[in-house]
Formats: sequence, structure tokens, C-alpha cells
Amino acid sequence: MGFEEFQTARGTRDILAPETWQFEAMRRLTLSWAARFGYEPLETPIFEQSPVFFRVGESTDIVQHESYRFIDAGGDDLTLRPEGTAAAARAFVQNGLAMAPQPVRLCYYGPMFRRETPQAGRFRQHTQFGVELYGSESFLADAEVILLAARIVDQAGLEHPEIRINSIGCTVCRPRYRQALVDYFGERQTELCEDCQRRLIQNPLRLLDCKVDVDLRRGAPDLEEYWCDDCREHIRGVVSTVKAAGQPIQRDRQLVRGLDYYTRTVFEVGHPTLGERAALFGGGRYDGLTANLGGPFVPAVGFGMGIERLLSALPKPLATSEPRRIYMAYLPGFDTVAYQLALSLRDAGLAVETDVIGRSLKAQLKTASRRAWMAVIVGGQEWADARIVVRDLNRGAQEVVARDELLQYLKAYREGNQA
Ligand code: HAM
Repeated sequence: MGFEEFQTARGTRDILAPETWQFEAMRRLTLSWAARFGYEPLETPIFEQSPVFFRVGESTDIVQHESYRFIDAGGDDLTLRPEGTAAAARAFVQNGLAMAPQPVRLCYYGPMFRRETPQAGRFRQHTQFGVELYGSESFLADAEVILLAARIVDQAGLEHPEIRINSIGCTVCRPRYRQALVDYFGERQTELCEDCQRRLIQNPLRLLDCKVDVDLRRGAPDLEEYWCDDCREHIRGVVSTVKAAGQPIQRDRQLVRGLDYYTRTVFEVGHPTLGERAALFGGGRYDGLTANLGGPFVPAVGFGMGIERLLSALPKPLATSEPRRIYMAYLPGFDTVAYQLALSLRDAGLAVETDVIGRSLKAQLKTASRRAWMAVIVGGQEWADARIVVRDLNRGAQEVVARDELLQYLKAYREGNQA
């Protein structure tokens, strides 16, 4: 195959109908559930000034190695957003939302970019729906975002989601745990994979997340033994609130997540169809990210959900708002009339396609049978008698209707067929 430079870039793809309608349905489902919980939609630019993502101390793979970072023609250092949380926190600070009545609840939906190795469920451009709740330290906030995630999964028709939770501690207890991990893995340094040798220095918590050193990981000290009283109370509160709402949730002692800003709660929503460590959603608490971005210290919690992954895990497609189409066919000489009639039906709210390449009635009806549920045929003696032929393309049944009753007839027929 030639012309490879004119194909989609590696790890990206086109989405065509009917799949685009599935994405549209997911967008409506997620945003409407977020609205029910009081979240306001936020749109941030697709690229940001690089320091928004490359903050001091940020050492995660997602940001350091997988970002699309570039210098533009004017010399600006920019990065395509690899995730939404830092961008949302930047918007929170820049727009003075710390002054607004707290908590502030924001949600977003859009593309994210990571230069990962493409594989099933992992793309270089993926779509994320996310929510961020600012201004609450309470475990009730963590429980709220988890329950919102669970509602969305449930409403999308996915059964048995696995909600895993952990606490990675706070500035009081995490340093002690970090040291315990460095001691444990340091003694076994020669057995570690190459990535983990690096993690041992840069981000020891991520050693728990390694897919290679599984046996070593199992014997590592458990965070729970290092939690301070506040952290212990916090995770207990989250778990009991989620369970009291009837939602199962499991502690996962190895869950640490791949971004640097988390404090205390981290959680993921998995599913048996996705394999062990792949997640539909991931999130957690990140108190103080706003302070790293030049704003006040504000506690916050949220999650991001991979739309492609959730769609691929669904047992059946979502109901969509794809309009059912009418095909306005016409006999030779009736093109202008058909064109006007099609416009008036569209003005009345119907979806109407009509021929614009001058094909025969037979060819028009062939297209209609593929793309529409009803054909309206303009012309002939019927038109002269102020009547019009309509054909139900699923049943093949044909009727003649008075021209001025066409709209009512089509609407009633459509409702009747939908019921
Ligand atoms: P994350 O876990 O990196 O978290 O991404 C969230 C979700 O996006 C994942 O659970 C997954 O479903 C999806 N995802 C990530 N990378 C890819 C990819 N390459 N291809 C397909 N899907 C992908 C975050 O991004 C955080 N900002 C979440 C958050 C919000 N934490 C607090 N608030």
C-alpha cells in the first residue's frame, strides 16, 4: 500500500457513523449525569503552556515521556493536553474560582494526547470525560465522584464494574511509607526491571504498579500499616459511604496510579473484559495542585473516564439520537418541487435526504432503501391531483396521501412505528 503519509498517524483513527453516534450518546449520558450531580461543563484549550503539565516535581511517565510537547513558530513551549486535571486546575486558578462559593464542581469531555505504544484500548488520541470537585476535604466528596462514576457505568448498561480504591497517604504518613519501600526494593535492586530501577529514585510508589516485578511487589510493605489516623479515617469514610449507597468497592493495596499529584484517595474502575490493570476510569484526591499552579491551596478530587474503553466494554450499543431519515425521491422535472418540499419538512423537524445528482427514480429508491425508513415520491399524476406517494421502506407498503397532510402523516407514522 502506498501513500502512507496520507494515512492517520499511528495510534489515532477516524470514527465514522454509526460509531460517531455512539460517541455522541456517551457524551450526552456522561454530561447529563454530571449535571444531575451539579457539575458545570468546562472547556479548556487542547494545548497549554508546557509548565501547566510539567510542574516542578512532576516525574510521571505520562507527562515526562508520553507528552506531545513542541515549540511553535513563535518560540512558545506548548503541550497537547495528556490529561484534563492539570488543565482544569489551571482554569480554576486563572478564573478566580477559589473566590466562588465552594465547592466548585466542573466536568469536561474531549480528546487527550499521549504518545503511548498503541495496543487494544490504548491510543495516542483518546477521549476523556472527567469531573473535578474543588473545595472539600471531606470523604463525602470522594464518595460523590465514585458514585457518579458508578452511575454512569450502570446507565451505560455495563454490569459488574470493579471499583478498586486505595489511599496513598498524605504529607504526614507518605514519607515514612516511601522510605519503607525504598528500603524493601533497595535490598532487591538487582532483581528490579529497568523501569523500576528508575522509579526507585524518582517515584518509589510506582514500584507497586510494575507489571514485570509482580512477585517482588507482593512482598512489599502495605501502605495501610503506615496510614496516619486522618488518612485511615478518610478512606474508611469513603468506603462506608459508597457501600451504604449499595455500591460494592474493594481495597486494592497495590493501586497507586500514574500521576504525581494524588494525595490520599486513589481509585479505578475496571471490568473483567478489560484485563487486570486496564481501567475504564481512574481518579483520586489531589489537594494542593492549585497551589502548584500559582493559586491558593484548595483540596480537590475527581476522575477521568476513557470513552473508547467504556464503549468497547459495553455488551450492547447505546440508544442513540441518530435521526430516522426520510428520502425525498422525485420523477424527472420535479427536482425543484422536491427540493422545496424537503426544506419545509426539515423546517418542521424531520430529517430528509434528497437527490442532488439527477439520478433516475429507480436509482434514488435504491439509495433510499439503504439509508431511510420512508420514501416520499414527488411527481406523476398524484402530484397533479395534490397527492403524494409514500413508501414504508422496511415493509415495502405504499400509500397515497393528500399533499397538505403529508407532514402530519409522516410524524404520526413515525411515532406509531417507534412505539
Ligand atoms: P488516567 O488514569 O491517566 O487519569 O486516565 C483516565 C482514563 O483515561 C483511564 O482510566 C483510561 O480509561 C483512559 N485512558 C488513558 N490513557 C488512554 C489511552 N492511551 N487510550 C485510551 N484510553 C486511555 C487521568 O488522566 C486523570 N486526569 C484522572 C483524574 C481526574 N484524576 C483526578 N481527576
